Amino acid sequence: MSNQKKQRQADYDISIIRPQMQSEDFKMRGQGMEPARLKDIKKGLLTLHTLELMAVTIYRFQITGENCEFNRQLIAAMCNEMTHYQDFQVKLYEFGFKPSIIRLAYWFVGFVFGFISRLVSRKAILKTGIWVETKAVQHYAELLEALDWDEETRKIIEKNQADEHGHINRWKKILEMDNKAD
Ligand SMILES: [Fe+2]
Ligand SMILES: [Fe+2]
Repeated sequence: MSNQKKQRQADYDISIIRPQMQSEDFKMRGQGMEPARLKDIKKGLLTLHTLELMAVTIYRFQITGENCEFNRQLIAAMCNEMTHYQDFQVKLYEFGFKPSIIRLAYWFVGFVFGFISRLVSRKAILKTGIWVETKAVQHYAELLEALDWDEETRKIIEKNQADEHGHINRWKKILEMDNKAD
């Protein structure tokens, strides 16, 4: 990763799970943009929106009823993913697009990953999280690189990508501690 990219990532406070939004933060976007650029943005936002639904659903089904620190962390991650999901849904409508119905298939994929990993073990939960989040970070990087986003949307994508890095680091740390304790 280039130093500039690292610096941009460091600019985001990932301890903020759900950044505040005010009325004036909502804007109608895309006026005057080239159709080809808009088409790319639509595709990018639909991909991100769908991925985030999968992420929310994975965490949802990994949480158990047990009163423990691990569940607390999973709940925070779920909330963070719900924020990402909201972010991209808002951006879709601001650009005049609509969410894709096909995303419901990704709900099901998320359910399968989440539910099965919970049935298997805590380590399976952690490994699933690390694997899926790593894929997400790659997707984010590709979309940030390839597309000509408006500055505000780009910032949202960068913050969310920084959050996914945070998730990977958190799950890796817990997995390491679990492995040591074995
Ligand atoms: Fe996310
Ligand atoms: Fe994440």
